[in-house]
Amino acid sequence: MLLLQPDDVRKAIESDIRGFLDTLKRVLIEKSSGKGWYPSRPSTNLPKGWIGFMPAYSEELGAVAVKIVGVFPENPSKGLPTVPASVLLIDAETGVPLSLMDGTVITEYRTGGASALSAEVMARKDSETLLVVGAGAQGRSHSRLIPEVRPIKRVFVRDVDRARAESLADWLRKRGLDAEAVTENRRADIIATVTTSKEPVLFGRDLTEGTHVCAVGAYTPDARELDDTAITSFDRIVVDTADALQAGDLKIPLERGLIPRDRVVGELGEVLAGSKIGRASPEEITLYKSVGTSALDVAASFFVYKRAKELGLGREVDLSP
Ligand SMILES: NC(=O)c1ccc[n+]([C@@H]2O[C@H](COP(=O)([O-])OP(=O)(O)OC[C@H]3O[C@@H](n4cnc5c(N)ncnc54)[C@H](O)[C@@H]3O)[C@@H](O)[C@H]2O)c1
Repeated sequence: MLLLQPDDVRKAIESDIRGFLDTLKRVLIEKSSGKGWYPSRPSTNLPKGWIGFMPAYSEELGAVAVKIVGVFPENPSKGLPTVPASVLLIDAETGVPLSLMDGTVITEYRTGGASALSAEVMARKDSETLLVVGAGAQGRSHSRLIPEVRPIKRVFVRDVDRARAESLADWLRKRGLDAEAVTENRRADIIATVTTSKEPVLFGRDLTEGTHVCAVGAYTPDARELDDTAITSFDRIVVDTADALQAGDLKIPLERGLIPRDRVVGELGEVLAGSKIGRASPEEITLYKSVGTSALDVAASFFVYKRAKELGLGREVDLSP
């Protein structure tokens, strides 16, 4: 069994970003076509956080994976990630464990990767500006991966913690992007909300014709990153999985009748497969709402395992009896 640490996972993904995105795309399409096994995650609240168990079987890849992931908001003050995770990848032919790997970097990249795929089919082709609200792990992956699929020239970063916004903007500038830490939302062609906030961080006034939004941070029934005016502005809403309908950003406005159910056109996998439309005109304002699906974890971990073997990353351990 191959043990892969966070740095190994990052190196494997960074060695072939396009291959990584294409693997996510294949499995999202598989999931939306009804193949494979991607159950809703069992989860429970814990004294200081939340923990979820995300099993998956991809027929397409011949792989089984389970990610155990938590959300622990107080962790950064202890020098730990907000969203700690690990993934066990298993060979679907034999049931033998192939790899135990860090799941924190998997979560970081697979979530930003799915948002980038949403941008590829929902954002205007000429999108040049990106606003990232929330400068944590997801802020980094979104500002890293969305420019891979759209010609982003300028990135605005906002965070309640100004130092975090400055630090991400600095990191982006070192990568050659024109990035600026801002204290108020700026209008942009693509906007990613990736905060731990339970209260709205994006407002109707921030949206203009043609904007594509990736709303990623809120996953509980009572938390919202988008205010009422923002959520009613969208012409088209796409979700990563039907579980997203239970997140406050959609559940609350749907229950209050603020938006009709058919505003949610389908899953990202269906749009990627071409069976649903993600954007019908340059003027439309579009939303991709994600809460996470195990399809992305099995895809990401399988890709990382294959690349790590090719690159000689990680450490083998023998668990055979
Ligand atoms: N949809 C998915 O698949 C998915 C996957 C992973 C994480 N998440 C969620 O995304 C969120 C971010 O995760 P992360 O790992 O980047 O966390 P993180 O703690 O690394 O970063 C969150 C950032 O949001 C900032 N923030 C909090 N409230 C804010 C506000 N009102 N305005 C602006 N900034 C604010 C914090 O200061 C912090 O920098 C979490 O809620 C997590 O549960 C979703």
